[in-house]
Amino acid sequence: MTTLADTWGINEAQFWLRGVRPEQPVEHDSAAGIWNVYGYPEILQALSDPATFSSDTQRLVPELARNNEGNLVQMDPPEHHKLRKLVSHAFTPKVVADLEPRIAALTNELLDAVSDRTELVRDLAYPLPVIVIAELLGVPSSDRGLFKKWVDAMLASSNKFSLKERSKEQEEYMAKAMEQVQELTEYLLGHVRERRRTPREDLLGKLVAAEVDGAQLTDTEVANFGLVLLIAGHITTTMLLGNTVLCLDAHPDQLAAVRADRSLVPSAIEESLRYFSPFAAVSRATNREVELGGTVIPADQLLMLWIAAANRDPRQFTDPDAFDVRRDPNPQIGFGRGIHFCLGAPLARLEGRIALNIMLDRFPNLRTDPAEGPEFLPSPNMTGVSRLPLLLS
Ligand code: HEM
Repeated sequence: MTTLADTWGINEAQFWLRGVRPEQPVEHDSAAGIWNVYGYPEILQALSDPATFSSDTQRLVPELARNNEGNLVQMDPPEHHKLRKLVSHAFTPKVVADLEPRIAALTNELLDAVSDRTELVRDLAYPLPVIVIAELLGVPSSDRGLFKKWVDAMLASSNKFSLKERSKEQEEYMAKAMEQVQELTEYLLGHVRERRRTPREDLLGKLVAAEVDGAQLTDTEVANFGLVLLIAGHITTTMLLGNTVLCLDAHPDQLAAVRADRSLVPSAIEESLRYFSPFAAVSRATNREVELGGTVIPADQLLMLWIAAANRDPRQFTDPDAFDVRRDPNPQIGFGRGIHFCLGAPLARLEGRIALNIMLDRFPNLRTDPAEGPEFLPSPNMTGVSRLPLLLS
């Protein structure tokens, strides 16, 4: 059977999008020296046990090692807990909720610039989250070309990551990505130092002023955390917006249901996160030998937890390959689970809800362009449109 993933040429490695189930929930890829975990309960076990499944994977991939202090995603308790508590104070539900009018105004402004056709990623799904996160941090959104350069370098490769054999192309791509990370960190460091001199009320300013256990964060910690927000805060939301529009378009009955009853918008977004999970995998390192899904994994192993595959696990989801905007309950784990649960989930959901509602309001005939299909990011770790031509009238 031809699936949507085949039609749209999504990276072959994402077999779960093609109705194929993994042979085992936990598999060792000996060629790459990595363990792949695909099952929902197995991934929940790993995400809820940070003492065994560490987020500090850098120790196993020395080539990607850099000064990582302040990188929340790669921290373990108790340091993770301290920093998360501190940044949660600066990134409260109220801070997010207060962004609603600005997100709506930006969405309308960006859509005012399009006529009867649009390339949704270029015109809305990319700029909207970047501008929002840049404004929140307090860096000029006009510098967004710089952020894009990094993302493009990072997502250019369609190869799966390997701890062992790597192609020349892959080595070059990793070196390029590291170079861009460095450039972006320097850029953010400049902004952080500026705030030490002149306090400001933006998120970087709040982080510079914040204290954990009586101590302030270092410049590098603030810059690295800002980097995480900049990166995590925009490409994923870009994918979410594009994927949701595409999934609805590919399922006209579901689109009609959402148009008829806008209270379905939030659950349509949850279903999009399950069906096409933008951030397909998170990684962990084993601190000790552990049994997972009936398999014994030694200590110091790198695990890829394929949350996108878990979101299609029939042991958890009835009819997992059906896109159903009324799915209830929908315990999708597209934002992860446990102590590292996505800090930006409320913001991503808010942006998704506002943008989708405004598009449905403004374009009653919105549909994909039959002459030009969507394009997807080549990375096996991401599931998201990179180009989505739409007809609007
Ligand atoms: C963590 C996905 C949007 C900031 C995560 C994790 C996932 C994820 C899967 C868990 C990583 C892990 O367990 O190792 C997504 C998706 C998004 C999105 C699918 C959009 C659809 C955002 C936004 C922001 C953000 C908008 C910020 C403004 C973060 C941060 C973490 C994180 C800071 C680390 C939390 C921690 O380690 O405690 N995200 N994210 N994300 N996300 Fe998101």
